[in-house]
Amino acid sequence: MSSLMRRTAAAFAAGALLTGAVLTGTAHAEQAERDAAPLQSTLRDAAAAQGRFAGTAINDGLLSNPTYTSIASREFSSVTAENVMKWETIQPSRGNFNFSGGDRLVDFAQQNNQQVYGHTLVWHSQLPSWVSNGGFNAEQLNAVMTEHITEVVSHYAGDVAYWDVVNEAFNEDGTLRQSVFQQTLGQQYIADAFRVADAADPDAKLCINDYNIEAINAKSDGLYQLVSSLLQQGVPIDCVGFQSHLILDQIPGSFQSNLQRFVDLGLEVIITELDIRIPMPADQAELQRQAEQFAEVTEVCLAVDGCVGVTVWGISDRDSWVPDVFPGEGAACLYDDNYQAKPAYYAMLEAFGGGDDGGDDGGDDGGDDGGEEPGPEPEGCAATYSVVNRWNQGSVVEVSVTTEQALSGWTVEFSLPAGSVTSGWNAQVSQSGTQVTATNAPYNGSVPAGGTLSFGFQTDSGATYDTPQITLNGAPCATA
Ligand code: G3I
Repeated sequence: MSSLMRRTAAAFAAGALLTGAVLTGTAHAEQAERDAAPLQSTLRDAAAAQGRFAGTAINDGLLSNPTYTSIASREFSSVTAENVMKWETIQPSRGNFNFSGGDRLVDFAQQNNQQVYGHTLVWHSQLPSWVSNGGFNAEQLNAVMTEHITEVVSHYAGDVAYWDVVNEAFNEDGTLRQSVFQQTLGQQYIADAFRVADAADPDAKLCINDYNIEAINAKSDGLYQLVSSLLQQGVPIDCVGFQSHLILDQIPGSFQSNLQRFVDLGLEVIITELDIRIPMPADQAELQRQAEQFAEVTEVCLAVDGCVGVTVWGISDRDSWVPDVFPGEGAACLYDDNYQAKPAYYAMLEAFGGGDDGGDDGGDDGGDDGGEEPGPEPEGCAATYSVVNRWNQGSVVEVSVTTEQALSGWTVEFSLPAGSVTSGWNAQVSQSGTQVTATNAPYNGSVPAGGTLSFGFQTDSGATYDTPQITLNGAPCATA
């Protein structure tokens, strides 16, 4: 039995327990022990071992709920503000900025060693009427937009790793949505928004985010053309967010090739708002298929170098936006209404290479599930080497190494098959011949057991090559 099936069975068994199935005292004890056994891994640790982040949207109103916050902090390495960084909340009237909710999220993230994903700067929805119906001419609206982006991005500079700069700019047919921004400023508003955000925080990664773009279709084609043109113009865009509000049994077959074509442009791609909704009430067969589909989406991301993370849109079914907007549908998240992990949780964990192997049954025999086992980790480290941008005479590379053992200082070495290092960040990067040596910066030498170190560098060559062998403090790492 695969570990996914074991966990799924355990989840269903737990359900049977709750609904009063008769078990012997011993069986009760064994079941309770299984249910209480801590997983050897969490989503965030399993994702980190694959060089990805596991994220969730955070509902500000639930930060006082300890059940909610303990799952949020334990399982996720990235947090997105579900609502509190949107325009209507953050600048409800002109010049009146309210950062309290966003600041709470940043505090929460910092306490829990999490990345903050900012959502969202320019969007037609949750836009206060002083903007949407303000009657501004182009010059005025441009000033309003610039002011908003500058204030918000500057406020969070250094705290927010990614921003959804422009959200939901497209119609389903691939044309641009006639938002107040498009109507008043024309398509130029998109390039301008990115440039203003970049000026306010050059270190934040800047994304365009949308829904129904997971497949290769008219809408994702329109987006592909737009971002290609933005890149040609030198607009500072780093990433595309694929919201992925999906429907059970409708995971698009072209999802992976679609992500890949955006990565091939030199962009990162991110699953930003994943949920999979089911007609209610959801039965066990549907929950099982949903689990397989959460795993499938995770595997799609893992199959694409440059897909850097998967964020789910809410922790439990009770917190989800889905029933409000799609009456009669729901059960779209990883946890049920009582904050119990659903089959989808275990499936996603296993898809990231985590799980409870070595627990109750002496380990996975690996024989029957065809599932992907994590790669070998020769000396307790796993490395990813991502060429995140490449052009004729240059490339930008990001290296992440996850370590099983805590570190107090690190040296990462590898051979660079083409070109020379011209600059580095988050490490002191030097080169001797083809050998590159990166040592920790003063601020990132300490890495906890299971933690990930990351740094980047630029080269003067656009040549392609195989991923080199990477060592951590002299020991070879498994390389994805
Ligand atoms: O803040 C008000 C509160 O003052 C009022 O008492 C209450 C009464 O209904 O409403 C509150 O506002 C709600 C807001 O969430 C904050 O809770 C809105 O009614 C409600 O419509 C709003 O829904 C959010 C929705 O975006 C708005 O478009 C959802 O929580 C949020 O999950 C959803 O997220 C979007 C992403 O931002 C973009 N992609 C799609 C995704 C799902 O729609």
